[in-house]
Amino acid sequence: GSWYDADIDRVIITEAQIREKIAELAKQVSADYTTVEDGLLLVCVLKGAVMFMADFARALGRHGPAADLEFMAVSSYGQGTTSSGTVRILKDLDRDVAGRHVVVVEDIVDSGLTLSWLLRYLASRKAASVEVVTLLRKPEAVKVSIPVKYVGFDIPNEFVVGYGLDFAERYRELPFVGVLKPDVYARA
Ligand code: PRP
Ligand code: MN
Ligand code: MG
Repeated sequence: GSWYDADIDRVIITEAQIREKIAELAKQVSADYTTVEDGLLLVCVLKGAVMFMADFARALGRHGPAADLEFMAVSSYGQGTTSSGTVRILKDLDRDVAGRHVVVVEDIVDSGLTLSWLLRYLASRKAASVEVVTLLRKPEAVKVSIPVKYVGFDIPNEFVVGYGLDFAERYRELPFVGVLKPDVYARA
């Protein structure tokens, strides 16, 4: 058994599935940006996207184009399992994105709130183009019209943790994506 067996109900996406999917996504993005002259600017949305950013950037590095890595931290969920509706910037970009071809790297698009806010923000900062790569997307997200060009997995409408995704800051370090046992929420 593992330390998390008491908390994890089941794994929905395995480490191997994540690895394979990231290789595919990196090939797609690489093929779509062969002509950018100043390379790509990857914007990781911390904290959730930290694992995906690290693995995706490395996978892209096998194919090109060159990419700069930038990090923003925003939060809309706080301690809960539903979006608060307010997106807070905890850490802003430290480089100018004006004129750059930006790819936002997200772990999950759920309500779409975080991303719709972020896309408006990057547009106001005059990025030359902005696309999104997300590892996970929930059906809810389809209700909000945000253009997400690269999607790893569409998943059912359940709260998931692991591979960067947290519940009250925990479980981010799990190497897979899984669902918590109901009593974990009861305990919290
Ligand atoms: C989570 C997740 C996405 C966002 C998706 O971040 O990492 O960024 O929510 O939800 P939405 O589509 O409903 O906006 P969270 O606010 O929990 O911050 P974190 O990444 O630091 O965990
Ligand atoms: Mn996040
Ligand atoms: Mg979170």
